[in-house]
Amino acid sequence: MTTKDNISNLAEEKLTDHDYDGIHELDNPPPLWIMALFYITIGFSILYGAYYFWLKQGDHQDAEYARKSAMHDEKYKLNTQSSGEIVLLTDAASLEDGKTIYKEMNCFACHGMNGEGNAIGPNLTDEYWLHGCKIQDVVNVIKNGVPAKGMTPFKAQLSEEKIQKVASYVLSLKGTKPANAKAAQGVKCE
Ligand code: HEC
Repeated sequence: MTTKDNISNLAEEKLTDHDYDGIHELDNPPPLWIMALFYITIGFSILYGAYYFWLKQGDHQDAEYARKSAMHDEKYKLNTQSSGEIVLLTDAASLEDGKTIYKEMNCFACHGMNGEGNAIGPNLTDEYWLHGCKIQDVVNVIKNGVPAKGMTPFKAQLSEEKIQKVASYVLSLKGTKPANAKAAQGVKCE
């Protein structure tokens, strides 16, 4: 009586010829879904290898890190960048918006209703400026403030666009000679 005779009919169909010291082998393949998964991982590894190593399409870890940091820096820069690219707006709608912002943000509390200045803040309508009279200078002061001297930073409260508008409005006040104008401070600036 061989081992083979002891094996049930069902198993018999699967019995292979492989025999080692009386130990037999059944041809018993794993379920189809495991095989499918197996072949899919092989397929994936080929595509993965081709994408990253052979065709060199994808970023490797350090390159991806550098790219993502650059993206983050770019985003962060929008909040902290010096305002080099900002241009003076002169259209009536923007200046009107700027005037509204000037009122809404209570700039008048320290600079007067018409920018004439008061006991706290300087005159914004004359030709003398403490921090420069270019649009970039004015935007910078409004954005970052001069905390030591009592000028509030507005970058947390106003968007870049709104700061540009209110700065343009401030510059449009030049030469308006409002009543009760405060004496000039700073250097003369054309
Ligand atoms: C709490 C008071 C206060 C408020 C509110 C305030 N400022 Fe000022 N601002 C000052 C003071 C004080 C200075 C002068 C800073 C210095 O001496 O360096 C100043 C300076 C400035 C300057 C620079 C003037 C120069 O001569 O260079 C600008 C421009 C300006 N403010 C615009 C604004 C605008 C626009 C707002 C509203 C969005 C505003 N400020 C709100 C107090 C204020």
